[in-house]
Amino acid sequence: MTHEQAAESGRGEETIFTWGAPPLKFGPGAVDEVGFEMAQLGAKRVLVLTDPGLVATGVPHRILESLQGVGIAAEIFDGVHVEPTDDSMAKAIGYAGEQGPWDGFVAVGGGSVIDTAKAVNLLTTYPGELMDYVNKPVGKAMAPPGPLKPLIAIPTTAGTGAESTAMCIMDILSLKVKTGISHWRLRPTRAIVDPLLTMTLPPEVTAASGMDIVCHALESYTARWYETYDRKTPEQRVTYCGSNPVSDLWSEGSMSLLAAAFRRAVRHGTEDVQARSDMMLAATFAGMGFGNAGVHIPHANGYPIAGMVKDYHPTGYPQDEAMVPHGQAVSLTAPQAFRFSFSSAPERHLRAAALLAPDHPKHNEPAEQLPSVLIDLMRNIGIPNGIGGVGYDESDVADLVPGTMKQQRLLATCPREVTAEDIEQILTNSIQNW
Ligand SMILES: NC(=O)c1ccc[n+]([C@@H]2O[C@H](COP(=O)([O-])OP(=O)(O)OC[C@H]3O[C@@H](n4cnc5c(N)ncnc54)[C@H](O)[C@@H]3O)[C@@H](O)[C@H]2O)c1
Ligand SMILES: [Zn+2]
Repeated sequence: MTHEQAAESGRGEETIFTWGAPPLKFGPGAVDEVGFEMAQLGAKRVLVLTDPGLVATGVPHRILESLQGVGIAAEIFDGVHVEPTDDSMAKAIGYAGEQGPWDGFVAVGGGSVIDTAKAVNLLTTYPGELMDYVNKPVGKAMAPPGPLKPLIAIPTTAGTGAESTAMCIMDILSLKVKTGISHWRLRPTRAIVDPLLTMTLPPEVTAASGMDIVCHALESYTARWYETYDRKTPEQRVTYCGSNPVSDLWSEGSMSLLAAAFRRAVRHGTEDVQARSDMMLAATFAGMGFGNAGVHIPHANGYPIAGMVKDYHPTGYPQDEAMVPHGQAVSLTAPQAFRFSFSSAPERHLRAAALLAPDHPKHNEPAEQLPSVLIDLMRNIGIPNGIGGVGYDESDVADLVPGTMKQQRLLATCPREVTAEDIEQILTNSIQNW
């Protein structure tokens, strides 16, 4: 059944979709306006969160100067963990709590920093247990009791779109599973997006975080149509409401930008300002799409693939711990996942393939068009070849499946019903993608 047929058949009674995003300031030099923006929000004492890799670029200190320039007392916390864990979040919350109170936060970094800042904002505004807010079934999924403090998010990767989304993601170390907190109150108050900040991004991070954009755009564009859900009450409304006319526009726009810019940004990232700028715009667009429509199987699989990492140390990332970067983890099963979801909305899968790669040769088998576009791209920019490329083999599949099945919030957005057997098949067929 296509999205349109499902809606017409009357399956589901939902008539409402929701869409949200913070006010956006975009463009070269935008970062230097952070002091002005924070002053408008009335904050007097602000914590700037970042990670050690970012400190080396000098950007956090530039932000400090902008804040201090308008009379705001500001300090830097540079202890954010790349790919945050419940432990690393607790440390950041502990630090901010001891040094507080703060009446505003600035996050400058990739998704790891922005997500950590969301948790710090929540748990310093309403001190308590992190697990109370973490999604079910891992945590209690409690709603924040009230409004949070102003948070300005300044992304330095072209990837997650976390500056406009209402969730934060972390690795729960004891369970070896990734999950997060998802509530509209977590959404940053402002997003300041300055594409020049990404000029220093290593090619491997450009490639991985760019694949995150690709997956955000594709998964939200092919997500279950919002009208096919059961009717919700106002209290039941979730941040991921399924594909809808507004999210679709952003996802389509993101794919067109990616088509022109992605390979150039990986290859000539230190000098191609236009490619960097288009990638940043693509990330922002995709964030506005998936942050409301949702993501499905590739992201649901990405969580155990990252959470159960054995001994993989990707170039371009901190080398002290094994990790599968989020952008790699979510893309490794994408070709197979879109083979699986093709029948739910063939026209959408074909349109997405055409937007992402307008000149790609036509495949005899329509279901193969999007997978072949993705595989061509991933080979070209150096993404590992399947889950085998990051250290998994057939004997690991049975252990990965439950980690995916725990992501019920994401699987609910899948356009086809998906069972544990389907996931097992998708993972097995993704051990090598080419
Ligand atoms: N909240 C959301 O909506 C959302 C969406 C997708 C992903 N995520 C999460 O975001 C995290 C991944 O974030 P990411 O892909 O942005 O990468 P990241 O924040 O993990 O950073 C990756 C590496 O790049 C470095 N780096 C970042 N910007 C740089 C720059 N401009 N110059 C030089 N080095 C730079 C960092 O220091 C780090 O070593 C994961 O934890 C993932 O789960 C969140
Ligand atoms: Zn993602």
